[in-house]
Amino acid sequence: MNDIMRIEIRRLRAEDIETISRIESESFTTPWSAKDFRDLLARDYCMYLVALADGEIAGCCGLTNICQEGNIDNVVVAERFRNRGIAFAMLKELIAMGEEAGIRAFTLEVRVGNAAAIHLYEKLGFVSEGIRPGFYEKPTEDASIMWRRHP
Ligand SMILES: CC(C)(COP(=O)(O)OP(=O)(O)OC[C@H]1O[C@@H](n2cnc3c(N)ncnc32)[C@H](O)[C@@H]1OP(=O)(O)O)[C@@H](O)C(=O)NCCC(=O)NCCS
Repeated sequence: MNDIMRIEIRRLRAEDIETISRIESESFTTPWSAKDFRDLLARDYCMYLVALADGEIAGCCGLTNICQEGNIDNVVVAERFRNRGIAFAMLKELIAMGEEAGIRAFTLEVRVGNAAAIHLYEKLGFVSEGIRPGFYEKPTEDASIMWRRHP
């Protein structure tokens, strides 16, 4: 896929959940269920975004505001839309929304072997501040704990 796509980023809506759950189950060995996504729509301290590529849902990412710290999770882009800057664009928007809500420090966990995700997070200013051994299952793998702190 090399053509230019129109990318739109907006809040997650209930009608997106079926597609997002499918992308999750194709991308993660321990995916969130549709119910997990429905539950978070009701929580005002959670912000979730989806990216649409030419009108088709391509991925999502989310943020939970815990005492003015932003916990980022569920960063995912469907395989055929990857490496086109979609996750970068979504996360830029998510961080801007978080900053508008007063968040000054963002954190996330990533598998230490997930080179694409680590490259992406470093491009956005995240720095690894520690390793949580054996954090992930299926397969067992260490997590790198990354932070992006306001200068
Ligand atoms: C991680 C993920 C969300 C990235 O989405 P994406 O839309 O492809 O991301 P982007 O295109 O914005 O950026 C990807 C970057 O990684 C780079 N990259 C791709 N594969 C790479 C690899 N094996 N090693 C290092 N960098 C890599 C790309 O070149 C690109 O960087 P660039 O823009 O500087 O060239 C996507 O790969 C995905 O959904 N993976 C499965 C789920 C997952 O692992 N989520 C993260 C959980 S913490």
